[in-house]
Amino acid sequence: MEYAKTGNTCLDTIMHGGIPRGSSIVLEGAPGTGKTTLAMQFLYYGATEYDEPGIYITFEELPDQIYQDMERFGWDLKALERKNLLRVICMSPKLFIEQLTKAGGLIEQVISELGCRRIAIDSVSLLRFEAEDGASYRKIFYTLRSALRKFQMTSLLLQESITSRHDDIPLENYVSDGVIRLSLNSHMESYRKRTLEVLKMRGTPIMEGEHRYKITDRGIHVVPSLSLIEDREAATDECVGTGIQKLDQLLFGGIRKGTSFLLDTNSKANYKYVIASILTEHLRAGYKIIAYSSGLSTFYDLMNIYSTLNIDLAKKIRQQRFYFVEHFGRAYPEEFQSGVIDVSDVDPSSYNRIVEEKLAPVMGPSLARGENWIVYYDLNTMFSQQGVDFVSRYYSGEMAKSRASGLTVLALCNFAEISSDVASYLERSSGGVIRTWVDGSYQYLQLTKSPHGVVSEPLIVVSVPQAPFIQLL
Ligand SMILES: Nc1ncnc2c1ncn2[C@@H]1O[C@H](COP(=O)(O)OP(=O)(O)OP(=O)(O)O)[C@@H](O)[C@H]1O
Ligand SMILES: [Mg+2]
Repeated sequence: MEYAKTGNTCLDTIMHGGIPRGSSIVLEGAPGTGKTTLAMQFLYYGATEYDEPGIYITFEELPDQIYQDMERFGWDLKALERKNLLRVICMSPKLFIEQLTKAGGLIEQVISELGCRRIAIDSVSLLRFEAEDGASYRKIFYTLRSALRKFQMTSLLLQESITSRHDDIPLENYVSDGVIRLSLNSHMESYRKRTLEVLKMRGTPIMEGEHRYKITDRGIHVVPSLSLIEDREAATDECVGTGIQKLDQLLFGGIRKGTSFLLDTNSKANYKYVIASILTEHLRAGYKIIAYSSGLSTFYDLMNIYSTLNIDLAKKIRQQRFYFVEHFGRAYPEEFQSGVIDVSDVDPSSYNRIVEEKLAPVMGPSLARGENWIVYYDLNTMFSQQGVDFVSRYYSGEMAKSRASGLTVLALCNFAEISSDVASYLERSSGGVIRTWVDGSYQYLQLTKSPHGVVSEPLIVVSVPQAPFIQLL
């Protein structure tokens, strides 16, 4: 299935990818709920980000009014029209249907001239007035839908909500491929809340329920339900994907800056690619990394894993973007030298100081410049080298520091090998917990805790030949 992205990451998430290409979707809502805004956002991002020019048909408002209204969101529609990425056309419903269905009519001309892939019609409610009765309206609506299909347009058909009895589903809603409803409800007596609900979307699963949205100075911003951070909208931009598609969907895009995730696994499970994929995506997003090395992968193993993910580890180390804390005093490639902090024969009392001495001068100025860091701890290794008591104390101190400076944390641990007290402490202090284990001849992965409250079923881990080399089913 190919999706047309709406320009609204969270809305795409709710529909598991976007609007299936070529489908006709009813966008309904009462006056002022933001139909025009959402429809224009869809066309604007289609044109500017996804190379899909669009047409906006308005039956009521003059283009000048629309240009002016949309300018408030920073969308310069006239500039898009000059670049042939958009046409805003004001015409009567009657003329529109005529021109849409006529071979070589105006609409067909615009579509072929610009190569349009998207259209919004504001609003189909007005088509009703063109019709003499229900039967002829039905005919007009079917005509509209088949013309849009013929032109393979992904379309938004705006519609005023009709407050009707529950059993009275409007014709548009069952003839269309999908329905998105915008509502404005009262909330805690003196407030109003805006909610968006995807009632139907053929060809794609949807996240059911009402999701809050806000009209901001950048357009409509949808916040999926269950989100605990509804009001920290800016934070959604600071999410880094894990590189594993299904996991990103469950996490609404990935790992938010400053959160800590625990990966609970045993040595039988192949977790190396999960970690490598998460760290690689962070590197790509400009993060710097500190990795507490693991006894199970040598530096040479790591170099291989990262090179299959197109990351030149030696180069990242030279650029001061990758540091290792090494517990085993093992050999490493010479180019790694500036990035390896050897703590192999350091006793617990000076461990902290040694790591600090090396990292503080690098991290302090970097954080002050607004750069982002992720710290990866192999707690299994640290437990075996430094002892559970020390690590528990050390780690809780580290977590407090991380929270204070907005570091993202990823920690590997094997719950089966530590006491349940420590395990439950680790679980409580983490924003997210991912488990992966082998059972019989399958490896599973499950999200058991996440900042949005989403918990998944056990997913099967499948090896695939291309990066990130694993896929979840
Ligand atoms: N920056 C902003 N912050 C908050 N609200 C805003 C902002 N800009 C516009 N709005 C609100 O958005 C609403 C306009 O949305 P829009 O015109 O898209 O709604 P509509 O559903 O198309 O309405 P109608 O049915 O009247 O055409 C107005 O209520 C307006 O007050
Ligand atoms: Mg409108």
